[in-house]
Amino acid sequence: MNILHIDNSPRQQSHSRQLSAAIVKRLLEVAPGADIIRRDLGTDPLPQTAALYAAALASPATLAAPPAGSLDLSEQLVREVEAADVVVIGTPMHNLTIPSVLKAWVDQILRVGRTIKSTSVGKVGMLRDRPVLIGVASGGFFTGERANQPDFLTPYLSIALSSIGLKSQQFFPLQGTAFLNWEQAAETRDKTLAALDVTAVKRLTEIQDQPAMVASVGWNHADLALPRHASPSAH
Ligand SMILES: Cc1cc2nc3c(=O)[nH]c(=O)nc-3n(C[C@H](O)[C@H](O)[C@H](O)COP(=O)(O)O)c2cc1C
Repeated sequence: MNILHIDNSPRQQSHSRQLSAAIVKRLLEVAPGADIIRRDLGTDPLPQTAALYAAALASPATLAAPPAGSLDLSEQLVREVEAADVVVIGTPMHNLTIPSVLKAWVDQILRVGRTIKSTSVGKVGMLRDRPVLIGVASGGFFTGERANQPDFLTPYLSIALSSIGLKSQQFFPLQGTAFLNWEQAAETRDKTLAALDVTAVKRLTEIQDQPAMVASVGWNHADLALPRHASPSAH
C-alpha cells in the first residue's frame, strides 16, 4: 500500500498540514505497513511551467515529438500518482482557490496523451481511480451558514483530479482558522475528519495481503472506489 502525501502550506505550523497528517495517521491505522511518498510543495515548490514544457504541450504534433527532457518532471510526478493507492492532499485556500504551488503540480499532472485522452465526446481520464483525501484550511468560511466568499477551490480541484480519472474524492474543510486557536482547531479538525471513510483503503489492504485473492478475483479498482463525495459538506 502506497500513500502519496502532498502538503501545500508555506508554513510549518499549519492547519492544512495538521489535517493531512491526521488523515495519513488514520490510514496507517488500517494499513500499518503502508509506504509514504512525500511531496512537500509548500517548502519545496516545483518550478513554474518551463518554456520547453509549454512547447511540448502546444499541439498534438509537439506532443508526439517533444523537446528532449521537456516531459521529465511531469513524468516523474505522474508516476508518483500512479504508484499511489491513496493520495492525501493538505492545502490552504489562497485567494478563493488552491495555492500556486498546488497549481504548479496540477499543471504537470494533467497532460493530454498521458493522463487525459482527448476524444470526440470529450476528455477522458487515463489513470485508474483511487481514493483522494483532501484537507482544506481556510481563514474564513466558503460553505455553510457563515459562508461569505465563493469557493473556487473545491470545484476546481475536484474537476482537475476527475479529468485524469481520480474521481473518488473526499474533501475535509477546516474553515474559519482566523478565529480558532490551535486547541479549538484540533476539535474542529476531529469533527471534520469524523466523515473520513477508510472502507476502501481497508479493503485494498486486505486484498494486497492475500495475493491469491488478487489472482482469483482480479484487481478491480472500481470496487474499491469511494462513493463520490466532492462537495464540501463534511464540516
Ligand atoms: C496569500 C493568502 C491568501 C488567502 N486567501 C484566503 C481566502 O481567499 N479565503 C480564506 O478564507 N482564507 C484565505 N487565507 C487564509 C488561509 O486560508 C488560512 O490562514 C489557512 O489556515 C491557511 O492554511 P494553513 O494553516 O495550512 O497555512 C489566505 C492566506 C494567504 C496567505
